[in-house]
Amino acid sequence: MTLSQAMVAFDERVEPDDRPAVIRVSGVEKTYHTRRGSVTALADLSFEVRDQEFVTVVGPSGCGKSTILKIISGLMPATAGQVEVFGEIVDSPRSDAGMVFQSPRLLKWRTILDNILLPIEILRLPRAKYIPRAMELLELAGIKDAAHMRPSELSGGMQQRAAICRALVYDPRLLLMDEPFGALDAMSRDIMNVELMKIWSERRKTTVLITHSISEAVFLADRVLVMGARPGTIVAEVKVDLPRPRHPRVRASAAFMELSSRIHRLLGVEYA
Ligand SMILES: Nc1ncnc2c1ncn2[C@@H]1O[C@H](COP(=O)(O)OP(=O)(O)O)[C@@H](O)[C@H]1O
Ligand SMILES: [Mg+2]
Repeated sequence: MTLSQAMVAFDERVEPDDRPAVIRVSGVEKTYHTRRGSVTALADLSFEVRDQEFVTVVGPSGCGKSTILKIISGLMPATAGQVEVFGEIVDSPRSDAGMVFQSPRLLKWRTILDNILLPIEILRLPRAKYIPRAMELLELAGIKDAAHMRPSELSGGMQQRAAICRALVYDPRLLLMDEPFGALDAMSRDIMNVELMKIWSERRKTTVLITHSISEAVFLADRVLVMGARPGTIVAEVKVDLPRPRHPRVRASAAFMELSSRIHRLLGVEYA
């Protein structure tokens, strides 16, 4: 699929407002207990994400963004409140959520293809059956030639593309991404945003992406959740009704800048 085909597919989506909620976070609180005392990271956090919706989350450092993603994926329990995913209360790690972290976390002794197939091995699925899918994702991500290379032979951006392929290879129903492009320079990040849109539009996974880049949050999202300082809670929701497909130059439009400056203001950041 070419980028323009992907963008057309993207454009044909049913309005997210008409879709059922598939993630429901209700009154979630999280307190970490450490030897040095207790830290309440999240206080009474509630929001929903609809089927096939792309939601981004922005907020100051330490406001609990990573914490909420870990609770949704079942990697960590909430102290109070509950999370429902596809109608089930989350009480253990979910295999239907593909996770992408800030660093690619690839195994350096494995080839890129073998790294991407790792979840298949963990889930004890038939490896041979998933090789074509892995190759298809590598092609979509623009790193097919790297299939048989080791991670150290790839740039940071290429490694992160591989990490996204790994999260998608077993066709999880959700994609949860924690600052996936945080370690990249601004230009690589803009390129990765377009690549992610391309990969995402192919399967239209329900996605929650955390970022500290307001521009990235607006460019990708159907809706931006703005969090306040710890203990984290949602201070505002900003619907992004910029038409899709979105070309990178949409960033220069008045509507884009208006949305960005609104989020800057909500975060209490001066917008020059
Ligand atoms: N495992 C942990 N033990 C104790 N405190 C933690 C732990 N993980 C996170 N925290 C604290 O919880 C708060 C929220 O952390 P985190 O979710 O990582 O924030 P963010 O991703 O928004 O930067 C921070 O104050 C952090 O120090
Ligand atoms: Mg974090």
